[in-house]
Amino acid sequence: MSALLLAALMAVLAAPQDPFRAGRAPRRAGGAGEGRATEQAHHGERLVCSDCHTVHNSRGGQPMRFDGVSMPAPVLLREANPTQLCLACHSGSYPLIPDVLGPVSYTADPAGGWFAQGLGLPNAHGHDLSPPSALAAPGSTESFTIECASCHDVHGSSNYRNLLLDPPGSADDGDVRVVVDQIIAPNGANAAQVYTPANLLDRSGMGEFCNSCHDNFHGRSASEEGAQRPWLRHPQEVAIAGAPHADFGHWSGPIVNRVRVETPTDDLVPSVDDRVSCLSCHKAHGSSRPDSLIYADGLRRRSTCQQCHDQ
Ligand code: HEC
Ligand code: HEC
Ligand code: HEC
Ligand code: HEC
Ligand code: HEC
Ligand code: HEC
Repeated sequence: MSALLLAALMAVLAAPQDPFRAGRAPRRAGGAGEGRATEQAHHGERLVCSDCHTVHNSRGGQPMRFDGVSMPAPVLLREANPTQLCLACHSGSYPLIPDVLGPVSYTADPAGGWFAQGLGLPNAHGHDLSPPSALAAPGSTESFTIECASCHDVHGSSNYRNLLLDPPGSADDGDVRVVVDQIIAPNGANAAQVYTPANLLDRSGMGEFCNSCHDNFHGRSASEEGAQRPWLRHPQEVAIAGAPHADFGHWSGPIVNRVRVETPTDDLVPSVDDRVSCLSCHKAHGSSRPDSLIYADGLRRRSTCQQCHDQ
């Protein structure tokens, strides 16, 4: 056994076995000692039951729910419902855990953006969290009540960020695979470096993931993007290089605040394999702009368009 392996094993064995109590800074899901460092939180060896469940809601006579309520919650959760449970750790109280509820301060540009409003409040700048009733998804005839678990598998998945392999709204025809590589892997202490666009190499699948609810916004058919140029909706997964109506020369020049693109075959951006995706223009959770849009220069929508079109 190599010294490194031994050290890793010792770290696992030495990790405290007690679940943390309400009021104490949560750390288990991200602890570097919890399984392999390359594994994402809440998945495989890093799925720590006591992060989210409590068996009796009692430890030393005190409740174990994060809100301190002594009545146990359904499904043995440590909060009243699943989305409140996620937000107990992911709403900014702990600087080492990525915050998804605005305002976000742990990093300047969180990859997923943020939910501008709390639970049950309408949000014109992104997805509405826990709306009082299901809302229609643009591009589809279906309606959804958006919760964290509408997109993330609470017990982890093999997808990037534990995204659901079978999101609601997706046709039951096989898994939706979202592949994004990270330059720096999360270790429980480096959230500001990990959950930021500069750390990510988007490969494939995000368009299909979003499309599971926004049916007509992705796909090469007459009712979707159109089969080819001239397009009917903005095309996805089309390479900038070689596209007659995109400007690869401009894209490959010096650009400030370059938007995200998929880079399916190499690790370089800008380069010839770069292709436009939903996350070139939108944040997944929400942003400070209408429709969860990204304004590349921070001021104007067209600054995003101009990076690839330079009209
Ligand atoms: C990140 C939070 C989280 C972690 C960690 C977690 N769970 Fe869960 N678990 C949930 C949520 C949320 C639900 C769903 C509650 C609902 O359906 O309303 C759930 C549901 C369950 C259920 C009932 C429904 C089902 O899916 O079978 C079982 C059993 C369960 N969890 C066991 C576990 C075990 C065992 C572990 C540790 C190996 C674990 N959970 C870790 C959040 C978590
Ligand atoms: C589980 C279904 C579901 C998935 C998956 C989903 N959406 Fe949505 N989306 C909705 C629903 C429902 C609405 C309308 C209600 C609302 O705004 O929350 C919506 C609204 C939006 C809006 C408009 C927001 C606004 O401010 O009015 C944008 C933009 C959007 N989604 C983009 C995306 C992107 C990008 C993805 C993939 C990262 C995605 N959606 C994944 C269901 C989904
Ligand atoms: C509409 C789908 C959707 C919903 C709803 C959603 N997420 Fe996400 N989430 C994503 C996607 C897609 C990413 C990857 C974003 C990226 O890399 O651009 C992500 C990223 C994250 C991250 C990593 C941090 C970041 O900014 O990239 C965390 C943590 C997270 N989500 C937690 C949550 C929690 C907690 C909730 C509920 C409060 C939630 N998500 C609701 C789709 C969703
Ligand atoms: C007990 C605190 C806690 C709870 C509750 C919790 N999380 Fe987390 N979550 C963490 C920590 C810690 C990390 C890892 C931070 C790191 O390593 O950078 C994390 C990471 C994540 C990530 C990024 C995973 C990755 O490595 O790419 C997602 C997505 C996420 N959580 C979603 C959720 C969702 C959805 C829920 C509710 C079902 C939830 N979390 C509940 C503490 C928590
Ligand atoms: C080239 C930039 C761009 C790309 C790529 C893009 N969008 Fe959009 N999206 C926009 C703009 C701009 C709007 C504002 C409305 C409009 O112009 O149609 C918008 C609006 C939306 C809305 C709100 C529609 C409504 O009726 O309120 C949803 C949902 C949405 N986009 C989802 C997606 C999804 C899903 C993808 C990937 C499959 C995607 N978008 C790719 C720029 C983009
Ligand atoms: C990351 C690069 C990228 C960004 C950002 C981007 N586009 Fe595009 N856009 C493309 C590519 C690639 C095509 C496909 C061009 C082709 O087939 O010749 C395209 C196609 C188009 C077309 C259709 C052209 C046709 O031939 O039918 C229009 C119009 C367009 N984009 C407008 C916009 C607008 C408006 C924005 C900003 C909201 C935007 N684009 C942002 C890359 C981008």
